[in-house]
Amino acid sequence: MKSKRIYFFVFPLLVLILLAGFITDNSYFTITPKDVEFKIPQGFPKPFYDFKNNTPTPAGFVLGRKLFYDPILSKDSSISCGFCHMRIAGFAHIDHALSHGINGLIGKRNVPPLENLAWGNSFMWDGRINHLEVQPLAPITSPIEMNETIAHIIEKLQRNKDYAAMFKTAFNDSVVNSKNILKALAQFTGLMISSNSRYDKYMRGEDTLSAAELNGLQLFRDNCDQCHKEPLFTDNTFRNTGLPMDTNLKDSGVAAINGDMKDYMKFKVPTLRNVEMTYPYMHDGRFRTLKQVMDHYTKKFTAESHADPILIKGIQLTELDKADIIAFLKTLTDQTFLHDRRFADPSGHY
Ligand code: HEC
Ligand code: HEC
Repeated sequence: MKSKRIYFFVFPLLVLILLAGFITDNSYFTITPKDVEFKIPQGFPKPFYDFKNNTPTPAGFVLGRKLFYDPILSKDSSISCGFCHMRIAGFAHIDHALSHGINGLIGKRNVPPLENLAWGNSFMWDGRINHLEVQPLAPITSPIEMNETIAHIIEKLQRNKDYAAMFKTAFNDSVVNSKNILKALAQFTGLMISSNSRYDKYMRGEDTLSAAELNGLQLFRDNCDQCHKEPLFTDNTFRNTGLPMDTNLKDSGVAAINGDMKDYMKFKVPTLRNVEMTYPYMHDGRFRTLKQVMDHYTKKFTAESHADPILIKGIQLTELDKADIIAFLKTLTDQTFLHDRRFADPSGHY
């Protein structure tokens, strides 16, 4: 009888202790020096972004993460980078063909995934930006994305006690300036590295692929790898894949930037890492499924389409081949990256 009464007190007490431990445990969002070490994954080339000029630190990374997920970067505090770039979708926007920005305005392009950006030497579907650190200025100042000015952001951040302190710790600078905003964002986005998919494990000899996946890999190397070059699955070039221009969007790709008709409908070769999660596809999100993308590639392209010579020569695939390529593409899904706690939104919104 007596021992029962003891349990009656001891049990709730234990639950309380456990609960208190759980609530005060911030380790999920804590960033250690080890978390921000930049390492070139096995088999990857040398990156373009030079972290020597912006060595990631826990304080810099945490600041970059806070900025990435904070709608304070938009004029009416409604849109953050993370609103359009969703972690579960490899930082693309799942299910939206075109980006959605401030005041419900719809953009002209599909949100691309953010991964392995340190290996990029040009950004955006048309490559109009060539440095990771200046890239955020484009969405921030775009009237249909965040519609804000960097001067006003600096003013807002300087007024905010948390931010003022974070900038001081991260950059030892008592004033917030644009250089440090951009450096902090680049520490965060530059460390988004996807290199632990089943494909990567297979390449390192740590996992096996099924017969269908292996056949898909072979077909991929025969037909796709010239543009979607391993291990980044892009060769960082711009190509015309024979898509007709959308008559509403009137987006002619690189040609719209330089006025050169040789670049008509050329778009950046996108990475295919995590492609299973980044639907819909292409610069304008016109295809909802990978099967639709495969069907597009096996069309007959005439010279008038201005399609890349590889596609004019023709890609021949049976329905089974297409299914095997899709099975292979799904081995590029990187659960380690998609669930990496370092990139989660500490405010819990996204
Ligand atoms: C309204 C939605 C939206 C917001 C907000 C947004 N982006 Fe983007 N992002 C896009 C779209 C759309 C593109 C492609 C633009 C293009 O090709 O013209 C893009 C492209 C990029 C790229 C280039 C990726 C590549 O592979 O070329 C990076 C990096 C990026 N965004 C980072 C950011 C950061 C950092 C922020 C916050 C400062 C941000 N984005 C805010 C929609 C958005
Ligand atoms: C001539 C170069 C080239 C070849 C060959 C090529 N691609 Fe592409 N691929 C591109 C370009 C460029 C885009 C983007 C086109 C656009 O948005 O208008 C693209 C887009 C894609 C997309 C959509 C990705 C996204 O995030 O929107 C997939 C999937 C894809 N390709 C798979 C393949 C497969 C599989 C093959 C082989 C059967 C292949 N590609 C062959 C250049 C190529």
